[in-house]
Amino acid sequence: MSPVDTHQNLIRLPAHLVLVGMTGSGKSSVGRYLASALKRDFIDTDKRVESTAGKSVREIFETDGEETFRQFEAQVLREVLASDGQTVVAAAGGVVTRSENRQELRERCNTGEAIVVWLRANTAELLQRVQKGTHRPLLDKDPQGTLASMERARTPLYEEVASVVVDTDELSIDQVGQLVLTLLENRS
Ligand code: S3P
Repeated sequence: MSPVDTHQNLIRLPAHLVLVGMTGSGKSSVGRYLASALKRDFIDTDKRVESTAGKSVREIFETDGEETFRQFEAQVLREVLASDGQTVVAAAGGVVTRSENRQELRERCNTGEAIVVWLRANTAELLQRVQKGTHRPLLDKDPQGTLASMERARTPLYEEVASVVVDTDELSIDQVGQLVLTLLENRS
């Protein structure tokens, strides 16, 4: 029997379960785990941006610039949160940097259409995990310093939008996924 069959709070989960957190915090892997456990569609905003733009995140940054990437990102977030159906969304690390995105997330939470979970990890763990993948051009130079300053700037922004916070340090993907489910089951 799956977790959703057994727990009323999981059955009553808002339509969109949105994972936020720093780049490398495990949003995509945990998101896939949760989507499978909850039998929901999984949406990765970076992948959605790539299919909308017809090019990779790196190409958008290099040929069109970060501002264009952020516009695609905001559009994708708006569309996903307005969509029918039940989703788990891995929202890319920089989604919270735009106030319109934070407002959109807060409004959807207030109406009960979304719930935002913040996956928190320390910089050393993030640094290890961001070695994988090619979609993080902002970390090409001085990844450690960039991550540290991003973390300082973004921590209050994640705080602003998240209703559930999960510390992921030293936990496997499955353990984080299980922890998220437990916290969601036990929320009031
Ligand atoms: C970014 C995070 C990346 C990607 C882009 C910018 C950021 O996504 O959207 O490189 O500003 O933190 P992940 O959070 O999936 O790494």
